[in-house]
Amino acid sequence: MLVTKDILDEKDPRVRAKNVPVTFPLNETNKKIIPEMLKHLRYSQIEKLAKKYKLRPGMGLAAPQLGINERFFVVCYERDKGKFEDYILINPKIISESEEMIYAGEGEGCLSVNREVDGIVPRHARITIEAYDMDGNIQRFRAREDLAIAFQHEYDHLEGILFIDHIDPKDPYKNADNMREI
Ligand code: NI
Repeated sequence: MLVTKDILDEKDPRVRAKNVPVTFPLNETNKKIIPEMLKHLRYSQIEKLAKKYKLRPGMGLAAPQLGINERFFVVCYERDKGKFEDYILINPKIISESEEMIYAGEGEGCLSVNREVDGIVPRHARITIEAYDMDGNIQRFRAREDLAIAFQHEYDHLEGILFIDHIDPKDPYKNADNMREI
């Protein structure tokens, strides 16, 4: 099982490195790791299992966080209590973004950022993304609110960007009035 120590810290240069498109058919490493990533995220959101395996709760994970510098990420989203949805986005492309901006009132977290960072991370309220699934079929996702934030956070990872990069340390709450808090 993928455990906490398998996830790279922000200090590791691979988190910031360039990520190349995934080629199909998927190689054995990726075929194996994608379900493992989703399992890790799901367990991390179930208190009993998170405790048992010492996992920090997380909703998304991108390949570079595991030292794989390729363009894919996964999200495990608890839409309703105990009801998880798994998303696999390979070679994602952002098709459209809403003008309306939002931010997570609780702040964002990242499994590669092992410290508390407060501040506002501006995100589009709604986005449409196209991406390939594990079989190489193209899919279109429309996400809003917290799922849209997760997709943008993970997409950023593929560009070597972390949520902390969006926060101005001198004024971490700037522009809050121009955005909707969720
Ligand atoms: Ni992250």
